[in-house]
Amino acid sequence: MSPMRVLLIDDELYIRKLVEKELTAPHRRIVTADSAAVAKRRIAKETFDVVVVDIRLPDGDGIELLSFFRQTFPDVEVILITGYGTVESALKAMRLGAYDYITKPFDLERLELVLEKAFERVCLKRENRRLLHGHKDMGAPRLVGRSPAMLHITQLIKKVSPHPTSVLITGESGTGKEVVARNIHALSLRAKRPFVVMNCAELQKDLLRSELFGYIKGAFTGAMETRDGLIYLADGGTLFLDEIGDMPMELQGALLRVLETKKYRRVGDQRERHVDVRFLFATHRDLNAEVNAGRFHEALYHRLNVFDIHLPPLRERREEIPLLVEHLLGVLGQPGTSYTVPDETLAYLMSYHWPGNVRELRNVLERCLILSEDRVILPITLPSELVQVAHPSRSAAFSCQTLQEVERHHIQNTLAHFSGNKTEAARALGISRRTLYRKMKAYGLNGIENNLAQMPTHVTT
Ligand SMILES: Nc1ncnc2c1ncn2[C@@H]1O[C@H](COP(=O)(O)OP(=O)(O)OP(=O)(O)O)[C@@H](O)[C@H]1O
Ligand SMILES: [Mg+2]
Repeated sequence: MSPMRVLLIDDELYIRKLVEKELTAPHRRIVTADSAAVAKRRIAKETFDVVVVDIRLPDGDGIELLSFFRQTFPDVEVILITGYGTVESALKAMRLGAYDYITKPFDLERLELVLEKAFERVCLKRENRRLLHGHKDMGAPRLVGRSPAMLHITQLIKKVSPHPTSVLITGESGTGKEVVARNIHALSLRAKRPFVVMNCAELQKDLLRSELFGYIKGAFTGAMETRDGLIYLADGGTLFLDEIGDMPMELQGALLRVLETKKYRRVGDQRERHVDVRFLFATHRDLNAEVNAGRFHEALYHRLNVFDIHLPPLRERREEIPLLVEHLLGVLGQPGTSYTVPDETLAYLMSYHWPGNVRELRNVLERCLILSEDRVILPITLPSELVQVAHPSRSAAFSCQTLQEVERHHIQNTLAHFSGNKTEAARALGISRRTLYRKMKAYGLNGIENNLAQMPTHVTT
């Protein structure tokens, strides 16, 4: 779990020193402020989990500050410190949403206990919001695949994961882009921190902006309360922006600024906030073509394209189908049950062209499991459209690829074999380096090999 970040606001130096000294721990950081103004400046720059505030401050009172926090930083829990004479106002503060109060002279042990409980609640609230986005951290799903292309991808994932670099994951729908993103996060130094997903194709422009950056109360009609954005929820962890090619232009500009400065503004907020997030992006679109069509910000494209992982469609790696079938039946079927897939069924699966890629294979198998009897997956359980278009008689080993697909695949494998060394790859392919460059560009194979060769071995976030 990430350390708890506490802000203590008290004008008495003795109290600040005492709490800082006694309650600082490996899992707890204490920052202090001697006035409301200093506290506000500090919280604008940094993220805190729990705020402890003296009800009497030289430049205002704690109750005012409480309302400020409740409205501006609803995720933060507030604990009040009161003298004997101010217990009344502390009770009022509880009604206004303070987490708890402690009376002076206070017992450090009690403060520590209250802090821990408040932090538990903060984590719970954040976790609930993450769950709302369907992203309970269950670890990464297994990335199945032993084809040269998938082995190469696994190698790229291992290389890039420990770096703070953002990664662009491309490939047709259902090829496993999200699986790759989750694996990168799981192998990164941020594995224990949140992995937050946002789909840029799901919401219209304004909603997308407020979902990503958050907004403050009154920023627009309907902004009844201040709300933090997903970028804040991903602080310290990874933010996966899916379908980045569908992000509206105006928002792309704001995103580029975040990538460059690590700062963002909530909608309606003047203040900039700092954020420490590793970005992963995915798209099924050809971003280069989107740039040429004027639909994608060129500078953002270059920023995203630093490290690119391309997932080939399933029809270009049919040799993986038996392994995927076995894996998916294990995931979808009854736990501990093994299923038999006769050669005839496998032949159909191997010769179909899978426009929906691995997701379609998964859906087909789900249907097969419902229809099959005695744990045997017979061809009769396959959807009739699949049986009609698949031609297993032409031999499952024969894959209906175009010459271009074969060429792309072969170039990719050769590059992987020579760890991205283009001179050696070109020699092995019997073509000039220039021709190889031209073909790599045409097949969208640029970038990956370079990154593989240039990646430093150790960089810390
Ligand atoms: N190599 C793989 N190993 C195991 N499961 C996989 C693999 N590739 C894809 N899957 C499974 O296929 C399904 C689709 O994968 P995923 O959601 O990652 O695709 P996607 O590329 O993000 O698709 P879309 O563009 O439609 O969002 C998921 O159920 C995922 O678990
Ligand atoms: Mg996806």
